[in-house]
Amino acid sequence: MKKIHAAITGIQGYVPDYILDNKELEELVDTNDEWIVTRTGIKERRILKGKKGSSDLGAEAIKGLLNKTNTSAEEIDLIICATVTPDMLFPSTACLIADKIGAENICAFDISAACSGFLYALTTASKFIESGSYKKVIVVGCDKMSSIVDYTDRTTCVLFGDGAGAVLLEPNTDGLGIMDYILKSDGSGGEFLKMKAGGSLHPASHETVDAREHFVYQDGQPVFKKAVKSMADVSEEIMQKNNLSSDDIAWLVPHQANKRIIDATSRRMGVGDEKVMLNIERYGNTTAGTIPLCLWDWEDQLKKGDNLILAAFGGGFTWGSIYLKWAYDSKK
Ligand code: UT7
Repeated sequence: MKKIHAAITGIQGYVPDYILDNKELEELVDTNDEWIVTRTGIKERRILKGKKGSSDLGAEAIKGLLNKTNTSAEEIDLIICATVTPDMLFPSTACLIADKIGAENICAFDISAACSGFLYALTTASKFIESGSYKKVIVVGCDKMSSIVDYTDRTTCVLFGDGAGAVLLEPNTDGLGIMDYILKSDGSGGEFLKMKAGGSLHPASHETVDAREHFVYQDGQPVFKKAVKSMADVSEEIMQKNNLSSDDIAWLVPHQANKRIIDATSRRMGVGDEKVMLNIERYGNTTAGTIPLCLWDWEDQLKKGDNLILAAFGGGFTWGSIYLKWAYDSKK
């Protein structure tokens, strides 16, 4: 019997309309366009306005995906949602999304791995396909980062934006799809990138609100140092493990946290800029959304059989890479 791989057979992104550019941020905090662009590569990000949550971002992406792939909600076996900005602690955002798209009685759950969330979720989903348990699985990365960003803190508010991306995974027996993965974590790094309160350790109280502990906290430099090394290491590791040279790689699809981290990764892999998906200037860091948003933006350039390396680093710390063979020529 031929080996079953989990292949991406459709991709769709969703970003809200409102554009928060560097100029507007200059009015909110002591920053400037030049600093933001040279230190991060970001020019603008999208913001979801109104009483809406990450599930709305995710549901929009999935509705577009179902439409584009001629798939009905009843056909979906499983939804895995990667997010650090769930609508609420429970129910899971995946359950809320399933309801919004009209998928009833299906398996649905969230994965929390911060900026590596999409890679963790994609790997988990692939196991349900490879085992033969499920035939149509949706993985969605969605984050309304603006809901946890402190717009008085210049060290974090310039970095993040809102967005979502969803993929449809199906079995493939022609040697296409997810070939390999490496996922890692180091909980000792948790202190450098976290939301201090709102969980069981420090439940919400007047004190936690006054201390602004319900926002993203990041000590940028240690995170930067670890990200540069880990994302490059894990990308090199997956290439070596699969005997891939830089010439074999069609695309690097990196998490979009900082252009300098991405450059360090592509340099280590020996992959030229022309093979690196980069949209950080338009969306900023959308956490679990960055990688599927890149795939969506580049979909029309992807060809069947292309070797892609997906790589991410984020809170936890968590990091990882996925090697996949793209399964279809663009439908656009
Ligand atoms: O996606 C999840 C994982 N996260 C990441 O991978 C992010 C990793 N970290 C980074 O990308 C970078 O550390 C940052 C972009 C967050 C910061 O860049 P940096 O080059 O590490 O800057 P820094 O924190 O060392 O700050 C340098 C200076 C400081 O001023 P002094 O102390 O030298 O006077 C900061 O106060 O830049 C100042 N600064 C700013 N200036 C203007 C910090 N933020 C800003 C700002 N505008 N927005």
